[in-house]
Amino acid sequence: MSPTGPHSAPLTSAAQPHPRLHTALAHLATFNSDPAAGGITREVYTPEYAAGMEFVSELMREAGLEVRVDAAGNLFGRWEGSDSAAPVVLTGSHFDTTLNAGAYDGVVGVLGAIEAVRLLRQGGVRPRRSIEVIGFAGEEPRFVAGCIGSRAMTGELTRAMLDELVDRDGVTVAQALRAAGLDPDRIGEARIDPVAVHAFVELHVEQGGVLEAGGEKIGVVTWIAAPHEFRLRLRGVATHAGATPMRLRHDALAGAAEIVLAVEALAQDSPSGTTVGTVGVIRALPGAINVVPGEVELEVDIRDSDGAAREAVVDGLLRAAEELCARRGLQLSVQTIARDEPAPCSELVIGAAETACAELGLSYRRMISGAYHDAMVLGAQVPIGMVFVPSAGGISHHPDEYTAPAEIDAGVDVLAGVLARLAEATG
Ligand code: HGY
Ligand code: MN
Ligand code: MN
Repeated sequence: MSPTGPHSAPLTSAAQPHPRLHTALAHLATFNSDPAAGGITREVYTPEYAAGMEFVSELMREAGLEVRVDAAGNLFGRWEGSDSAAPVVLTGSHFDTTLNAGAYDGVVGVLGAIEAVRLLRQGGVRPRRSIEVIGFAGEEPRFVAGCIGSRAMTGELTRAMLDELVDRDGVTVAQALRAAGLDPDRIGEARIDPVAVHAFVELHVEQGGVLEAGGEKIGVVTWIAAPHEFRLRLRGVATHAGATPMRLRHDALAGAAEIVLAVEALAQDSPSGTTVGTVGVIRALPGAINVVPGEVELEVDIRDSDGAAREAVVDGLLRAAEELCARRGLQLSVQTIARDEPAPCSELVIGAAETACAELGLSYRRMISGAYHDAMVLGAQVPIGMVFVPSAGGISHHPDEYTAPAEIDAGVDVLAGVLARLAEATG
C-alpha cells in the first residue's frame, strides 16, 4: 500500500486476495427464506433479511465504520473524514434478493465496499471527505416497484405510497416497515440533501455476458438503462369451459397471451437495438381448469438506455392492447408501477474508475448497465458511477449466478482506488 497523494491508487499494483470477503459472502448466502427452491430468497423487511442485516452491520463495525439505520431501513456505515463538513462519498448496493436468486447480485457491492474501506484503513489512508457504505433497503421489487430505500433517500417514496405499494401477499410497505420495527410515518426522515453528497459509486456484478465475452476484468458503466413498469388488468367473462361456444367467449387469458407476444415482438423490433421487454408476472382468475379466465393481471417491464425508444415500445404496446381488447370484448386498465429515466454516469466517477484500473493493470471497458440499480435512482440528484465485475455465463437472478473470487477481488481493489480518489484521501 503506497498512497502518494489524493489522486494515487492507494493499493498494490495488482489485485490482491480478500479471503475474509469471500467467507462473508458465503455466510450472507445462508440467510435464506426458501433454500428448498435451490437459490436464495431474502426479501427486504423479512426475518431472514433482518438477520442478514445484523450480520452486515457487524462487518461494518469490525471494519471501523459507525453504523446507523434510517427510517426506510437503509443501513449506513460511516468512515469520518478529516473534513466533516465536506460533501461525502457514498458507496454500497443492496443485500436483499429477488425470488430464488443467486449469491452475488447486490451483496458484492455492499460487502465489497466494506472490504475496500478496510483495505484503505489498513493502508493508513485518511480521507478528507467522509465515506459512507450503504446497504439499500428493497432494491429488489418485493413491492413490485424496486429501489424503495434509495427512492426514500431522494424523496420520491412518499408516505402515501407506503400504503399503496403491496407485495404478492397483499402486505403494504407500511405494514412491512412496522413489522421490521420501523415507523412508516417517519419515512420523510430518510431524505438526504444532494448538496451534501460528492458522488455515489456502486460495485456490482454485471448480470450480463458482455465482460465475459470481451475478456475484460472490469466494466466502467456510462449509462444505466431504466424501466417503465406497469400493471395491465384485462376483464372478460368467466364462463363454463365446456358449455360456452368459442364465438361467445371473452377470454381474458387469451387476450393476455396476445399482449405477452406483442411485448416480445415490439422490443425485438425497437430501432435502438437495446430495448428489452418482459412480462414476469401473470395472474389468471378464477384459476380453475374448467372456467374460462374472466380476469387477468400482467406485470410488464420495458427498459432501455434510450428513453425515446423505450417509450415508443410502451406506446405501441398500449395501442395494441387497446385494439385487441376492443376486438375481444375485454376491458383494459393500466396502472403505472415505475417510470424511471435512464441515468448517465458522471465523468468524475468514470475517470476515477478508469485511472484505478490503469494503475492496477486491469483491463476494462466502458459499457451500459441493462439492469437497474440504486445508482439509477440516486443519479437523478448526485453524480454516480458503477464498477462491474463479470458474471459467469451472463447468468443472474438465478441460483447459478457466479463471479470468481479473483474477479470480485479486482473489483474491490478498483473500488478502493475510486473511493480514495473521490474522498481525496492522503496517507
Ligand atoms: O431488475 C433489476 O434490474 C435489478 O436487478 N433489481
Ligand atoms: Mn437484482
Ligand atoms: Mn442488484
